Amino acid sequence: MTGHPGALPLAAFLAGALALAGAAPAAEVPYEGFKKCASCHKSQSQSWRKTGHAKALDLLKPGVRSEAKRRAKLDPAKDYASDKDCLGCHVTGLGKEGGYDPADPDLYRVGVSCESCHGPGGRYQLVHREAAERFEKKQATTPRQGLADAGQDFAFAERCNACHMNYRGSPWKGAQAPYNPFAPTLDAKYRFDFDKAVRDAKAMHEHFKLDGVFTGAPVAPFHEQFQATARPIGKDAR
Ligand code: HEC
Ligand code: HEC
Ligand code: HEC
Ligand code: HEC
Repeated sequence: MTGHPGALPLAAFLAGALALAGAAPAAEVPYEGFKKCASCHKSQSQSWRKTGHAKALDLLKPGVRSEAKRRAKLDPAKDYASDKDCLGCHVTGLGKEGGYDPADPDLYRVGVSCESCHGPGGRYQLVHREAAERFEKKQATTPRQGLADAGQDFAFAERCNACHMNYRGSPWKGAQAPYNPFAPTLDAKYRFDFDKAVRDAKAMHEHFKLDGVFTGAPVAPFHEQFQATARPIGKDAR
């Protein structure tokens, strides 16, 4: 609970606290794959498809970015596309329930997709559906806390760090093998500055105006700023 509990009615606060205590760890929420997300969020999906994140698995193929691979002492002629030392940061949910499985490579878990940043969606996508119906029928909004309880992540930096800051000698406390071979010691351009990176219009999908179906905490500190300049969505393409 990141807001001010005092500002909530006591009953609601207790219900939230109990739900948190009784909830399974977020890590156990299954991945869904981006097909579902894309069916409701067409605008973000179309924009995401153009980013390097969407095409991240291609980087592991032979002959791609050969110069960068050579400098990192990798073999540019080798196919790393099923190498477990690489896949974790170039697909979605490797080795997790519903995530990318090298034995059955599924198109909708390829690349750094929606759930790599927003969290595994097996549960919260159902909350989105229900909330959308309530909003449409009765104009009723839904507290964001329910999304967080269902595994949606609003603390983006930690998600990014798991890939971008996970190199040998990293100051990030979560760093562990397999490491990102492209560390800032190799080239300063690999230094990860979250506040800059999250605003990188080429790497991140474009932002679109929300109707306000979800309200309250938790929200990312830059949410208001992003929404202030977000583009409206076409009726046919949410
Ligand atoms: C811990 C996460 C992680 C692992 C493991 C990982 N990568 Fe990456 N990889 C990244 C990130 C993050 C970037 C983006 C780096 C940047 O541009 O700042 C990247 C970028 C790349 C690039 C593009 C580099 C460039 O300068 O164009 C290639 C090629 C690549 N990875 C190949 C591999 C290969 C091959 C392996 C396994 C030997 C691997 N990666 C393992 C996270 C990882
Ligand atoms: C599952 C691993 C993963 C996660 C999570 C991830 N990224 Fe990336 N990111 C990559 C890889 C791999 C690339 C390389 C794409 C390329 O070079 O084409 C990349 C590229 C980028 C780039 C372009 C880097 C450059 O060299 O210009 C930016 C900026 C970036 N990511 C920001 C973020 C932010 C911000 C987050 C979190 C909100 C995030 N990423 C989450 C793996 C990840
Ligand atoms: C590299 C990380 C990353 C990936 C991949 C990603 N998102 Fe996002 N997304 C963000 C961030 C950061 C925000 C801004 C959150 C905020 O403003 O509170 C955001 C915001 C959103 C929003 C809120 C409205 C908006 O446009 O800002 C929706 C809806 C959304 N993403 C859907 C998706 C879908 C669907 C996918 C996959 C097709 C996806 N995202 C992939 C990081 C990512
Ligand atoms: C049945 C349709 C549906 C599905 C499936 C769905 N969403 Fe949503 N999602 C919505 C609606 C409706 C909203 C509320 C949008 C608004 O307020 O305008 C929403 C809101 C969001 C938001 C913004 C939440 C906030 O902070 O206000 C994000 C991020 C998001 N969805 C990502 C995803 C991701 C990732 C997936 C797949 C795992 C997904 N959605 C699946 C319909 C859906």
